[in-house]
Amino acid sequence: MQSITEIKSLRSQIKAWRQQGQSIAFVPTMGNLHQGHFSLVEKAKTLADKVVVSIFVNPMQFGANEDLDNYPRTLTQDKQGLAELDTDIVFTPSVEAIYPNGLDTQSYVDVPGVSEGYCGGSRSGHFRGVATVVTKLFNLVQPDFACFGEKDYQQLQVIKTMVRDLSMPIEIIGVPTQREISGLAMSSRNGYLSEQQKDTAKVLYQVLSDTAQQLQDGARDFAALEQSAKSRLEAAGLKPDYFSIAQRQSLKPATLEDSEFVILAAAYLEKVRLIDNIQILAD
Ligand code: PAJ
Repeated sequence: MQSITEIKSLRSQIKAWRQQGQSIAFVPTMGNLHQGHFSLVEKAKTLADKVVVSIFVNPMQFGANEDLDNYPRTLTQDKQGLAELDTDIVFTPSVEAIYPNGLDTQSYVDVPGVSEGYCGGSRSGHFRGVATVVTKLFNLVQPDFACFGEKDYQQLQVIKTMVRDLSMPIEIIGVPTQREISGLAMSSRNGYLSEQQKDTAKVLYQVLSDTAQQLQDGARDFAALEQSAKSRLEAAGLKPDYFSIAQRQSLKPATLEDSEFVILAAAYLEKVRLIDNIQILAD
């Protein structure tokens, strides 16, 4: 595995591969890798000749009161895991290399519609930061495929919309959420939780699953389903940010005409923000 930090070195390796006709699959990450990230790398390996993984904690997508400074950084361990999976390149640029003129004068990419509400509503500027850094990374890596987790469902839809709207020649692949045995979605932020808190956190997926079952059984009073789910979260000790039944692709609020849904949820467990979702497909 090549470990590359300089943009120049990355570009020359990508150019060489391109000249040899090698296809490239890309997995962008912020590090502190777990089985969720590794499942994206495994998927990427099935898609293309070469796999590039980036590790970059992107300041542009963090709000002023968020955990940028404390975000877990475990580079040595991450590289070891990626090497074991035969990753071709791990790209770990510096903040200065990605944002040489700072963040204030940085051009940006906005994806209206799908980035509004849910996490976009609670985390102002978050999806602008994600869309901008992913565009920059796409321009550096020039992949044929890029893999994103369904765990961050709104992010996946933002990236799919951006690629379509801006005619980027990249196929976006969504990969199912990897979970602990308890059902808790794997996340770098789970490291902030004690064992006891993890026991509370798993309720988020239980409530999502129960609500999905009710929808599957024909319940259609969306507001009542959302309200009762939020009450259950509160009773368990979670502070719901949102719990919303939406159309699977547009993420607009679900209507009685819809037969496919996604339930999107975010909740705080003390200071830790948990997100998860579940899709309901038509039979
Ligand atoms: P990060 O949170 O490190 O996640 C990197 C990728 O791993 C994302 O596509 C995310 O959806 C996926 N992922 C995380 N947990 C997962 C799980 N339990 N199962 C499956 N996939 C999972 O998301 C980001 O970084 C950043 O916003 C990024 C796209 C890198 C832009 O900075």
